Amino acid sequence: GKGEYDHYMLKEINSQPTALSNTIEGRIEDGEVAFEELPAGSFADVETVQFVACGTSYHAAMYSGQLLRAAGIPTEVLRASEYEATSGPVDENTLVVAVTQSGETADTLDAVRTATARGARSLAVTNVVGSTAAREADDAIYIRAGPEVGVAATKTYSSQAVTLALLTQRLAADVPTATPADDRDAMLETLADLPEHVETVLETTTAEQLAEETLDSTSYFFIGSRLGHSVALEGALKFKEITYEHAEGFASGELKHGPLALVTDETPVIAVLTGSGVEKTKTNAIEANSRGAPIIAVGPDDNPLADVADAKLSVPETHPVWAGLLANVQLQLLSYHAADLLERPIDKPRNLAKSVTVE
Ligand code: M6R
Repeated sequence: GKGEYDHYMLKEINSQPTALSNTIEGRIEDGEVAFEELPAGSFADVETVQFVACGTSYHAAMYSGQLLRAAGIPTEVLRASEYEATSGPVDENTLVVAVTQSGETADTLDAVRTATARGARSLAVTNVVGSTAAREADDAIYIRAGPEVGVAATKTYSSQAVTLALLTQRLAADVPTATPADDRDAMLETLADLPEHVETVLETTTAEQLAEETLDSTSYFFIGSRLGHSVALEGALKFKEITYEHAEGFASGELKHGPLALVTDETPVIAVLTGSGVEKTKTNAIEANSRGAPIIAVGPDDNPLADVADAKLSVPETHPVWAGLLANVQLQLLSYHAADLLERPIDKPRNLAKSVTVE
């Protein structure tokens, strides 16, 4: 049940420290990523990687896709529903990673079937043991987030992003042409602190107050660059899904290529300021601010917009790869509290289903 919480979504947001501890458990041994399902060397034949996913899972895939490209592995992150038209040629050295918490999303299953029929190797990254994706793919890795009841994906996003970040390091180690990131060791060492940092966010968040202050806005724009771009897209998706308010996510630099026309003093710009790329976000947020938009800075306290922002959502200092996930927790809370103040049916938003089994 929901226990002390009004909604499953809030319970699930708050269970992220535990969920992440389970996700991480035993995944790093002697400084190396260890998946019992797939021992070291399992990916030695992989030359290119394609992620296929929908919605929030797509955003988790986008996040790790960047890490994989940084390791020198050619990577595409494709919308599962558009796979047919967007995938280039694949062969047995192509690893198609289906990212799907439910393991039952029709669009994602269809993309994997298309890819395997064309000769690719498949891997499911899922929360549900025995799900269709897990059964049909050549291999499966479980994110171990525990059951998620709310339609909005929260803890499964965090557990997916962490599992995928670990998978990228496993691939970087296995694939002969890959070059593991310089800060790989620091990244793996700091992962152990992530559950505690999420706890800090949950205990110190000002998201409820901020949701109240911005509740009469006409639109909400989420911007970010690099890893922060995917966090911005995810923030906007969650916001519209449960509040029914208009929200859009953009790459920071894209704001001035069209969306800026919509910016007024009634459109808060929520700037994700974690990881690299923050300077671009700063410049573009300042541009929006000069058109009257209130700026909400989501990041460490000493972020580059600290002097300009109208409000902030703070995240503890940590490795840039994990910092984006902390920013995402703040955005989950912002969406939750805005939806709660608007009295939306948070756990079951209209027109949506937990797993989308139609194409
Ligand atoms: O089960 P999946 O991860 O394949 O689901 C994909 C999307 O339908 C899902 O993430 C959806 O976008 C969420 N409800 C968003 O919160």
